[in-house]
Amino acid sequence: IPVETFDLVIFGGTGDLARRKILPGLFRRFRSGQTPEGSRIIGAARSEMDLAGYRAMIAEAIAEFGGEEARDSDSLNAFLATLDYVAIDAKGAGGWADLAQKVRSDVVQAFYFSVAPALFGDLAERLHSHKIATSDSRIVVEKPFGRDLETARALNAVLSTHFNEDQIYRIDHYLGKETVQNLMAVRFGNVLFEPLWNNHYVDHIQITVAETVNVAGRGSYYDKSGAMRDMVQNHLMQLLCLIAMEPPSRFGADEVRDEKLKVIRALQPVAPHHIVRGQYDAGPDGPSYRADAENPRSFTESFVALKCHIANWRWAGVPFYLRTGKRMKARSSEITVVFKDLGHTIFEGDTARHRNILSIRLQPNEGMDLQVTIKEPGPGGMRLIDVPLDMTFAEALGADAEEVTDAYERLIMDVIRGNQTLFMRGDEVEAAWAWTDPIIQGWEARNDVPKLYDAGSTGPEDAMMLLHRDGRKWREVKG
Ligand code: BG6
Repeated sequence: IPVETFDLVIFGGTGDLARRKILPGLFRRFRSGQTPEGSRIIGAARSEMDLAGYRAMIAEAIAEFGGEEARDSDSLNAFLATLDYVAIDAKGAGGWADLAQKVRSDVVQAFYFSVAPALFGDLAERLHSHKIATSDSRIVVEKPFGRDLETARALNAVLSTHFNEDQIYRIDHYLGKETVQNLMAVRFGNVLFEPLWNNHYVDHIQITVAETVNVAGRGSYYDKSGAMRDMVQNHLMQLLCLIAMEPPSRFGADEVRDEKLKVIRALQPVAPHHIVRGQYDAGPDGPSYRADAENPRSFTESFVALKCHIANWRWAGVPFYLRTGKRMKARSSEITVVFKDLGHTIFEGDTARHRNILSIRLQPNEGMDLQVTIKEPGPGGMRLIDVPLDMTFAEALGADAEEVTDAYERLIMDVIRGNQTLFMRGDEVEAAWAWTDPIIQGWEARNDVPKLYDAGSTGPEDAMMLLHRDGRKWREVKG
């Protein structure tokens, strides 16, 4: 679908996200000739700054975060020429008339709210009172979308005062990742997997998002959030939805989101003994969570592992094990579908447990592998071994796969195209909080203390036990 000429206003245009992700992403698109002629990007922020100052700031940001392409100075200068800047007072009147003048009404208009959620209402209201937004304008908002059901509802209410749901694009950048979309292609573009994708053949499913990063520098946000709010309620939940949802009738925004919503609503409450919270301790190569978060008494979790169930026909009885943490052994995100054992073996003497395992790697080395059982080559008789059929997408697809579009780039272009498929709908976010809230409230009521784990490990021992108790084990975390 072609992208039409647009005016994109970035509120928070001097902020971290704008400099790290949004503008470098837009630059890459521009450089590859995928930005329609005449499109403009208008940074809006509190600072009084002239346009030359803003362009210089963004040039620096692109040099730092834009990768190799940033060295192409002709493209960079041409891109900078499409930038404009307005100093704006989100809570007052300053700058709005100026913005009204700049935003054209005959092109696609998108307003990126890259600001604290507390300002969403102020921005939405002023876009209307200054007659800038139209009924076709799109607004883009980021996580955290609330910190619980109540605050998420309040945000939805504020936004829906001025915008219809089909104008609101709630970003979860995991949905923009190449392999996350590939999940849907694998499931719904092949005849091979879908017949087995249910409780008759699947023993259990694991979702791991392990990170090596710490929380230094963002403790003031993270310490009030923790892994459950920061990762599970959104990113892991989205992965769970895509792996578990029923096939939508078509790849359309509401069809996909309806199916995801059904999964979230079918999630059973998690029993307290099916969830493990962890916090990293100091290790040889770095300080503890508490030191990084600058809160010596913090009980915030930097790690969560849990077991949950989806109460529907397809998944009844199949546990889903989710885990995510900071400062873990390796950066590795993977979804693993472990199939059931054979009911009967015809190979005498073969007592090993052979299992088909499909794992989908999100990062690094995006790809899939399928563990299959074969005969061990050679004269040793009918001995069976398990080998991976490995497909690393970059290898299979050659150079094309290296130009992996960054999640933000893809999602912003979807906003301009008016395609909401990869964005969260208001009811979906609320349903995710409705499932998360009782878990967090339980911890708060019990003053739950997270289990310490060594930085650079795979998390607390109890997380291992969560699976061992069920006679299962986590996949190895390897980068
Ligand atoms: C963000 C979280 O949404 O996702 C971070 O706030 C986390 O804590 C990040 O590190 C992970 O994203 P990615 O793309 O690096 O896996």
